[in-house]
Amino acid sequence: MHIQSKLPGVGTTIFTVMSSLAAELRAINLGQGYPDFQMNEELIGLVNQAMEDGYNQYVPMQGYRPLRESIAEKIEYLYQTKINPEDQITITPGGTYAIYTALTTVLQPGDEVIVFEPAYDSYLPNIEVNGAIPVPIDLKFPEYKIDWSEVRRKISPKTRMIMLNSPHNPTGAVLREEDIKELRSIVAGSRIFIVSDEVYEHLIFDDIPHQSILRYPDLMERSFVCFSFGKVYHCTGWKLGYCVASSENTKEFRKVHQFNCFSCNAPTQVALARFLKNKDSYLSLSPFVQEKRDYFQALMKSTRFSPLPSYGSYFQVYRYDRISDESDRDFAIRITKEYGVATIPVSVFYRSGKDDHVIRFCFCKKKETLDEAVERLSGIS
Ligand SMILES: Cc1ncc(COP(=O)(O)O)c(C=O)c1O
Repeated sequence: MHIQSKLPGVGTTIFTVMSSLAAELRAINLGQGYPDFQMNEELIGLVNQAMEDGYNQYVPMQGYRPLRESIAEKIEYLYQTKINPEDQITITPGGTYAIYTALTTVLQPGDEVIVFEPAYDSYLPNIEVNGAIPVPIDLKFPEYKIDWSEVRRKISPKTRMIMLNSPHNPTGAVLREEDIKELRSIVAGSRIFIVSDEVYEHLIFDDIPHQSILRYPDLMERSFVCFSFGKVYHCTGWKLGYCVASSENTKEFRKVHQFNCFSCNAPTQVALARFLKNKDSYLSLSPFVQEKRDYFQALMKSTRFSPLPSYGSYFQVYRYDRISDESDRDFAIRITKEYGVATIPVSVFYRSGKDDHVIRFCFCKKKETLDEAVERLSGIS
């Protein structure tokens, strides 16, 4: 018996390597992107309540209707866009699944997909498993901006999709109005779809407006916009998210979704439907996470690491050129072993392994965790 692998190049990821190393050495794990503090107590209470109330059976394939209504209200309030909860919003088991389903809905073998690197690690395998071809474009270092002239050069008759991610993992970069202008002019009149990964939607700092694709009706007709409750509500283990798209695109998306997951966890949907009614449930998120970024940045001044700006997400990237000229992988492994702090080398987010000698820290942690980690890092000379 032999399986012809659909993903022959895929092995154990650095996330698994670094997390096992961190666990083995009892290092502080600032590598993986999840909070180490308790999520919102009220939301926990609402889930318990939903279970007590009997919401323990399947909800409809497209998601619990009141949750889709709450999401549509939030979208109208934040982005002044009317979205029909009936046929434009689908609840999914997490953001990654929404992205995978969008890609699978559209892609045919041989289609090309433009992906900006460094990129979240699921994108390339998700494209390839569909027989399509990733066309990676490096974000311009060190600002991690999109080089739109390169995008124009790389577009071919086979280009079927462009993947966006803002706020961006691993760099904390965010899209600006100028980017949207470029994007609009590039895709106008083309057959190119957009997958916009906005799982860090509410985690954007310094009063920068989130350039959601939801704001732009001309882009919406060709887009699948993907979100994650797990990420923004500090409960990554919930694996609950949603995809917003035009009714025509949603129809096709649901054909794929229906025979894969069918219907998502019920009590968490009921709880979120109630929780989202209070605007503060999402308006309070940016200041909360920004405070963590600011706290971490202030602590890191006592080290020899040099920051690159983080405008959103859970992450900040630091150079270590004042410490070492090792590869980022070797450096990350060494500081885990010698100083007990695990991070992620940014080269792993490039297919080419491009190494700009920077590592990613997750700052969405308890103050005590950040204090202890930076105390250890300040010992590195
Ligand atoms: C850019 C990006 N997209 C998607 C996800 C995954 O979201 P979810 O856990 O809801 O699948 C992550 C998680 O790290 C991410 O960083």
